[in-house]
Amino acid sequence: MIHYYDFPKIPTHLIPDKKVLSEIENEFSGSTNRYCWYESQDRYPELETWLKSVLPFNFIFAFHTLTEGVKIHKDISRTLCYNYIFDAGGDNVTTEFYNDDGELIESVQIPENTWHTLQVDVFHGVSNITDMRYALTITPEEYQIKNPADYNYSVLDK
Ligand SMILES: [Fe+2]
Repeated sequence: MIHYYDFPKIPTHLIPDKKVLSEIENEFSGSTNRYCWYESQDRYPELETWLKSVLPFNFIFAFHTLTEGVKIHKDISRTLCYNYIFDAGGDNVTTEFYNDDGELIESVQIPENTWHTLQVDVFHGVSNITDMRYALTITPEEYQIKNPADYNYSVLDK
């Protein structure tokens, strides 16, 4: 469900401060701090250029922050993503994967500042967040679901 890649680390000067990001976005979108998704395409051209030098395919990217765990779900708009966590959001934050019967099949503590892919068309969730978790998430074009209405999105009722 998770693969790690030995790609270069993202230079810190290309990463917006998470608090600044939150304040700006909250002002414009009114989103809560619990789960925030910041569409970042065309907003961070220097970062985008750098990312394109590392990931040689078409993609969209977004920053996201979490202040609580994420309910078990399948992603609605993609089947796989590349993630890069700047701040794990606690000492024991785990990402869990489940089969369709709700049985835990994998639980991992994903390290910070490490490129990885997540399979997100299987049930997954995040637990034990105590601080703001902050990450970059990249959706390759080939893994985008163009018409999510046709996708069988559901949340495990546990
Ligand atoms: Fe997800």
